Amino acid sequence: MKLDINGQLHEVDAPADMPLLWAIRDLVGLTGTKYGCGAGLCGACTVHVDGAPTRSCLMPVSAVAGKKITTIEAIGHTPLGKKVQEAWIAEDVPQCGYCQSGQIMSAVALLHTKPAPNDEDINSAMNGNLCRCGTYNRIRKAIHRAAGT
Ligand code: FES
Ligand code: FES
Repeated sequence: MKLDINGQLHEVDAPADMPLLWAIRDLVGLTGTKYGCGAGLCGACTVHVDGAPTRSCLMPVSAVAGKKITTIEAIGHTPLGKKVQEAWIAEDVPQCGYCQSGQIMSAVALLHTKPAPNDEDINSAMNGNLCRCGTYNRIRKAIHRAAGT
């Protein structure tokens, strides 16, 4: 099947029920999207499917054929994604970094639907993205910085 990832078509030979995360990492070779729990619980594998934040570890690859998939490798190509990445750098958010691509993908999706979120909006949108290093306060600050709030 053909996958539209970051504006490029990739032909992948995959069983219909292969998780999108496997296809992205192992077949297409984009390793910025991380495997954490494999069960939809941690958010490390978050990508955008037609702009919506999606847990790629649970999404069968056959369900996204023909849809537009965006990964962390291309999120900085949009003005909003670039702004969020710059805010992440300015606030020195990452510690080990493992969860951060998923965090950024969720943050961009939040700001896309809610350009000026308050703390409650941020907590609720980012609730499913876990960080073992506890960078939650810096994530919140970076989202406010990107939003200008
Ligand atoms: S790896 Fe997908 S939610 Fe944890
Ligand atoms: S920065 Fe280490 S898990 Fe989030």
